[in-house]
Amino acid sequence: MIYLDYHATTPCDPRVVEAMLPWLTERFANPHSDSHAAGRQAGEAMAQAIDSIAATIHAPASSLLVTSGATESINLAMRGVLTHPRNRRNHMVVCSTEHPAVLDVAADLQRSGVDVTHVGVHPQGDGDNPLAGTIDLDVLANAITPDTALVNVMLVNNETGVIQPIAEVARIAHAHDALVHCDITQAIGRIPINVSELGIDLVSASAHKFYGPKGIGFLVAGGGERRVRVRPQIVGGGQQQGLRSGTMNPAAIIAMETAIRLAAAAAEPQSEESTRIAGLRDHFWQILNGSIEGLRLNGPPLSEGVWRVPGNLNLHLREIEGETWMAATPGVAFSSGSACSSVNPSASHVLRAMGLSESQARRSVRFGMGRFTTIQEIETAGDELIAAWKRFQLS
Ligand SMILES: Cc1ncc(COP(=O)(O)O)c(C=O)c1O
Repeated sequence: MIYLDYHATTPCDPRVVEAMLPWLTERFANPHSDSHAAGRQAGEAMAQAIDSIAATIHAPASSLLVTSGATESINLAMRGVLTHPRNRRNHMVVCSTEHPAVLDVAADLQRSGVDVTHVGVHPQGDGDNPLAGTIDLDVLANAITPDTALVNVMLVNNETGVIQPIAEVARIAHAHDALVHCDITQAIGRIPINVSELGIDLVSASAHKFYGPKGIGFLVAGGGERRVRVRPQIVGGGQQQGLRSGTMNPAAIIAMETAIRLAAAAAEPQSEESTRIAGLRDHFWQILNGSIEGLRLNGPPLSEGVWRVPGNLNLHLREIEGETWMAATPGVAFSSGSACSSVNPSASHVLRAMGLSESQARRSVRFGMGRFTTIQEIETAGDELIAAWKRFQLS
């Protein structure tokens, strides 16, 4: 199986596994047991790991809450702000291409009386629109009102790899004293991240997207210029300042720390990893585009300096549905939309929001290349995909 689905999840880096293992076996103590040395050792190692995680994204460690992943972080951020007893505002903005983890929480809050405005993105258009898929900042500026508590815009889209202009989003939201929540899940390891420079108030992330284990992530809530109050969604033992109760998992937190440190180095603009992955992605596009007639790129062009991460390729075919192409190429793992919403067979809401027709969205696929993808894999996958496409031309 050639794995080209790095947006859905990534394998654990062996260095991450190595860092994690001792904390599962000989150093297993409860990190909250400060009555004995073993517990204190686990607690201290965990605290150091949290400091380091926060430092890699330039966020204050005191505002970082460890969660089970981005879905939980997003729930805590959105529900936490809107339902906090001291919050007097009842309006929220979401970008229409957000992950379902954001859109579904917004829909749920809306059912309980919160006003929600969806802000669209720049269309794909006919040609190579460099802004395709990025949020329309003029519409955003008009959508925010004095009642807006929170603006939710992700940093990198999980389907198209589009990078959103978050610093601009924050400037617009802050002019109205609204807070900004940014889902950075797909950005870590792909682009450099500086939370304090971007001016974001709340940040959600999940370790399994950057070569860490599944079931662990974090939320940064505040610590910048604006006061952020979140109402806890999980109560119990009062861990993490009572904002997210439950015994913490040192092994997973230490793993996440190793993963994010490696990811931050890999995300540097001219790093060996990001240059190599961008090169593989471009090579793959050339292979497919050279043999398959009528292929079209979804999202901004692939050239350097555009609003798109390396390693992402989203495209649509002229005749065949993505699902059909996938079924005909069982040796390659890729996705016909957002893998995270693959339980939902409807056409991608992200591509539809960019103006693609229902049929174009159904003819779309997403490839994701990452740290362990090789040129041989790219070339073999290309051959298999082209052969499958040719079989449909003959039939
Ligand atoms: C952008 C984005 N946000 C949130 C999530 C949810 O992450 P998790 O399932 O780890 O909670 C995902 C992936 O599934 C994602 O790609």
